[in-house]
Amino acid sequence: MYELQVSTLNWLTAVGKDVASCTEGGFLHTNSDSQAAGKVYLVGAGPGDPDLLTVKAVRTLGMADIVLHDALVSAEVLSLASQRARLMNVGKRCGRKSITQDQINDLLVRFTIAGKVVVRLKSGDPTIFGRAGEELDCLRVAGIEVEIIPGITAGLAAAAKIRVSLTDRRRAEQLLFISAHRAHGKRNADWHTLINRRTTAVVYMPGEPEGVAEDLRKAGLRESTPCVIVSRVSNRDEQWYQQRSDCCMPRPSCHLPVC
Ligand SMILES: C[S@@+](CC[C@H](N)C(=O)[O-])C[C@H]1O[C@@H](n2cnc3c(N)ncnc32)[C@H](O)[C@@H]1O
Repeated sequence: MYELQVSTLNWLTAVGKDVASCTEGGFLHTNSDSQAAGKVYLVGAGPGDPDLLTVKAVRTLGMADIVLHDALVSAEVLSLASQRARLMNVGKRCGRKSITQDQINDLLVRFTIAGKVVVRLKSGDPTIFGRAGEELDCLRVAGIEVEIIPGITAGLAAAAKIRVSLTDRRRAEQLLFISAHRAHGKRNADWHTLINRRTTAVVYMPGEPEGVAEDLRKAGLRESTPCVIVSRVSNRDEQWYQQRSDCCMPRPSCHLPVC
């Protein structure tokens, strides 16, 4: 038995009666042995350009009843959702949280139990720095069917944009996707255990690039290490800036970081 506390009722009421109608006395009960009527699709929205979506993502958006999307998902991608779909921005931007992860989990369960086809749309690939783990755990406990549809993660789109090989065997023998930030806003402090001079590092959520450059130097990278900063790759307002890591300070003005 999965017991879901209605901690978000006020917020949910604003969402509409689809959700309100599936609550019962403050708790929602489901039997994990029985499959819920709806289904959740955890879909990768890619970096922004709708041409970078998978065919399967487009098809799934076209049959959605509900789309719960992150703030970074582009308007062009959202426009591919079915006309009847209700779009809900559940994104967190730069640490400002309009809705908690628990509330998002609640919504996924509620809408699915109400029989909806729910698309959880995350920028890039849903399994990369996207809190998919918490959502999958919650849905698993609730006995809800989930399908993951991968997307092009920002790091791969950035490499394509600047036309570099991430694993050029003359320079790199490992590829590191790393977040500069850990849970609860803490800065990652483990660079030296993760990186060496033959690593291509793709840094997500860099915060201030100067801080990342300093961490990389402390981890043993030469100051001449090539470094590219890419913002909003594949979107109309994309920007990129190529330098050596020691030159991240000062950098030209651009709307960085994407966070
Ligand atoms: C919460 S993570 C989500 C990553 C996403 N799941 C992916 O696979 O790309 C958000 C971070 O991804 C990076 N990011 C996402 N989309 C981006 C884009 N279009 N251009 C550059 N960086 C992007 C930024 O570092 C941003 O702070």
